[in-house]
Amino acid sequence: MKERPTAIIIFGITGDLAQKKLIPALLDLYANKCLQENFRVIGMARREMTDESLCEYIFNTIEKIGHNHSKKLVEKFLAHISYLSGDFSEPRSYEKLGKFLAGQDAESDECSNKLLYLSVPPSLYDVLFENIANSGLSIPCAGEGGWTRIAVEKPFGRDLETAQALDKKLSLLFSEEQIFRIDHYLAKETLENILAIRFGNAIFDPAWNNKHIDKVHITLLEKGGIGARGTFYEDVGALRDVGQNHILQMLAFIAMDDPKEWKSLAIRERREEVLAHLQLQKDAEIIRAQYDGYRSEDGVGKESQVETYFRITALLDLPKWREVPFVLESGKGVGENEVSITVYFKPKQSCVCSNPTDVAMPYNKIIFQIQPETKMILRLYAKKTGFGMDIEPQNFTLSFAKPTERLKDAYERLLFAVLKGDQTTFLSSKEVRHAWQFITPIMKSWTDSELIFYKKGTRPKAKDIVK
Ligand code: BG6
Repeated sequence: MKERPTAIIIFGITGDLAQKKLIPALLDLYANKCLQENFRVIGMARREMTDESLCEYIFNTIEKIGHNHSKKLVEKFLAHISYLSGDFSEPRSYEKLGKFLAGQDAESDECSNKLLYLSVPPSLYDVLFENIANSGLSIPCAGEGGWTRIAVEKPFGRDLETAQALDKKLSLLFSEEQIFRIDHYLAKETLENILAIRFGNAIFDPAWNNKHIDKVHITLLEKGGIGARGTFYEDVGALRDVGQNHILQMLAFIAMDDPKEWKSLAIRERREEVLAHLQLQKDAEIIRAQYDGYRSEDGVGKESQVETYFRITALLDLPKWREVPFVLESGKGVGENEVSITVYFKPKQSCVCSNPTDVAMPYNKIIFQIQPETKMILRLYAKKTGFGMDIEPQNFTLSFAKPTERLKDAYERLLFAVLKGDQTTFLSSKEVRHAWQFITPIMKSWTDSELIFYKKGTRPKAKDIVK
């Protein structure tokens, strides 16, 4: 049977995300024959361009980023791309898009599947939703079999109230099965491996609770500053940018119950349960900081109070996690690139060893590293070789990437999943709501006086940052 054509409509095709992530991911999917032959990417953005000049622009960008495809293959891929210039606030732009799509469908004599991908600043979501609705673009034309889906990037809203308003609008236009809310961390190799390791091995489950786990430390630390994203960052800050989403999802993967199967509904429900029970540990230290020099970055206000670093501690109001602190920390310009989750187990009260005072109380830990490498490190104690019975810590490392294998980028997995209609690695409406329910009161409670400053390349001092 002939496959129904697919139209991938990227709003904001000339932007950073589309150029650096979406197009390279689509190119890789194409090269790996994961895209059917009769697909078309229709890019829309404000600037005046032709199909040819957009393709030249894309060609230059992907050359700069680097790839391992032949020129012939890249050219074949680019032949699938069309461009329409349009102002997103103008209904005419959507009429133009509608006509273009109808023309394509008439040509192939079939109604195509349609993916509407919003790769635009969140401030434009409202206007896009409205125009998409008014132009009828949200209505699948295919009836049976064909689909229309929408992919929306994070941050989804600015706080609980705006997120709920956005969700309400979106749910009037699309059913939940059509909505793909993106948090690219859900498609990271290490995160998927947390589930594989936790639920694929019988040894972890009995120890995965407050009886055995002492604390969990989640970090998303970046060496670089905000780069050219000053205007975007001024509007969000660190807590909204990565705290409300990536960090809370890492927490959900660590704390969720066994979904028993790799099925979207089961996995999303288990993540929702965790996020619904988040609480702030009130007596724990809270740090909200900004790196020196942030205020001189392009697009940043001279008196900006926006945080580029935060450190808070969450608890989960769930019997098996009660009193286990989850330290959540993220910062830009902190002098190291480290994205990881460290699970600290409770120390042993004794050891069969001759150096109990040297090792203090032995404790195990597991580090799930997301960046710079995708791996898991298990810290165990073992005997030092030779006479005597001294023990020492040893790290057992399991790499999630085979040396000969290229890891698939999260966006490649996400696009593949949207096209297949698999929502496992996308946020549900409830997850977004619960995450904002936790984050919004924290943001509201922050006052400008709490902002502290740190030297770029260092990590803000905290009394008890765990090493
Ligand atoms: C994005 C944030 O969502 O995630 C960026 O907007 C952050 O500020 C990035 O740098 C981190 O993602 P990754 O995949 O580079 O770890």
